[in-house]
Amino acid sequence: MRFPSEPFKIKVVEPIRRTTREERDRLLREAGYNLFHVPAESVYVDLLTDSGTSAMSDNQWAGLMLGDESYAGSKNYYHFEETVRSIFGYRYVIPTHQGRMAENLLFSTVVKPGMCVPNNIHFDTTRANVEHQGAEALDVVIKEAYDPHCEMPFKGNMDLIRLEDTINRVGRDRIPLVMLTITNNSGGGQPVSMENIRQTRALLTRHGIPLLFDACRFAENCFFIKERETGYADASILAIARELFGYGDGCTMSAKKDGLVNIGGFLSLNHEQWVQDITNMLILVEGFPTYGGLAGRDLEAMARGLREVLDEDYLRFRIGQVRYLGELLDNAGVSILKPVGGHAVYLNAKEFLPHLRPEEFPAQALAVALYREHGIRGVEIGTVMFGKKDPATGRTIYPELEMVRLAIPRRVYTNMQITYVAESIIELHRRRDAIGGLKMTYEAPVLRHFTARFEELPPARLHPV
Ligand code: F0G
Repeated sequence: MRFPSEPFKIKVVEPIRRTTREERDRLLREAGYNLFHVPAESVYVDLLTDSGTSAMSDNQWAGLMLGDESYAGSKNYYHFEETVRSIFGYRYVIPTHQGRMAENLLFSTVVKPGMCVPNNIHFDTTRANVEHQGAEALDVVIKEAYDPHCEMPFKGNMDLIRLEDTINRVGRDRIPLVMLTITNNSGGGQPVSMENIRQTRALLTRHGIPLLFDACRFAENCFFIKERETGYADASILAIARELFGYGDGCTMSAKKDGLVNIGGFLSLNHEQWVQDITNMLILVEGFPTYGGLAGRDLEAMARGLREVLDEDYLRFRIGQVRYLGELLDNAGVSILKPVGGHAVYLNAKEFLPHLRPEEFPAQALAVALYREHGIRGVEIGTVMFGKKDPATGRTIYPELEMVRLAIPRRVYTNMQITYVAESIIELHRRRDAIGGLKMTYEAPVLRHFTARFEELPPARLHPV
């Protein structure tokens, strides 16, 4: 068998409405060729994100009925707290409604203007929350992370030499903490090795700097460690997670990923003073410390999800399904970011559409074509999302990678639907010369990808490559 089959059976189904090409063409025009403005109901396979899109288990749904909606001291909070402690090992557990609130609480408490927070690669919301404090968000991942063809088992690793240089240059007093994002979403869902985490810890201990994890996809990272790193083949995912988090001082977590829930997150820390300050802020902006912006039932679903995600049969299927999609595409000659990461396959739009110029937004054009021709929605991670204007010349500075991310929701699509996605993309790849570029007609000053509008340029003109 080429992929691990589903370790679950389906008890409840959600019908999907099929649309015609004409309908999708019209919806695209109305949306200004921005897929964030296409109604989800008109998407056949939705790979926009793996965040908050998981299917919960019968056990989680049963947990919802046991919600204790008391304002203070809900029994679900205690269950949740005990679960988080037993996996992550930190003393204090602060629930939040999603990951970015955990980031906001942490950074608004410990980061001051002029400081610097290194990470392997900051996710957009961590970067934005650091910068919102007037501090610098620095990416210190190994350089291979930016080469889509370089195959390494742990391409999310921190560059320890650059990290040490940064500490020496910036000064320990201006670095309140260092983060490690596991897996490294913005670098393709690539894992960080235990060895790299251990060495990062040792370096930071020498300088007296705390280490925190952005833990959204921690179970996927632990599975990669088990699969790829010497000495872990026989260890349980729980044991790997405990060792990993033992090298840190805390974490932020969006449970919308490896918590297997549709909403939820938390902060877990050892630092008592930070926790006191964060708790005061939590009460001001989010809620009482035993619910933190969530219902009791949400806490119960999250506690159960965090246990389920450690199951190896589940993880083997999960990582296997994403890899299966990557392999089908790679075998058919479609250029993807390699190796395939934990939660998504990334199409390399520069190589998929070599006839488009950078200013014609190749990745956005590819995402639009994939929706119009096959009803599949991915997300552009390229010039629309990360392109910047040089303030001096007004010219666009293009990001290194021009990608379409196909993020796979957890336990939602069957391998047959994933096969459909692969066959659709292979078909599109055969006819790629007919895909034209786009012109941006509206852009907001910040986070422009959410609201940008485009027009289609006349069908492809072939440029010499
Ligand atoms: N950190 C990482 C690594 C993430 O991938 C995300 C969300 C967050 C933090 C923020 O969590 O959405 O619960 O506030 N990533 C989603 C994505 C949105 O599509 O990759 P949140």
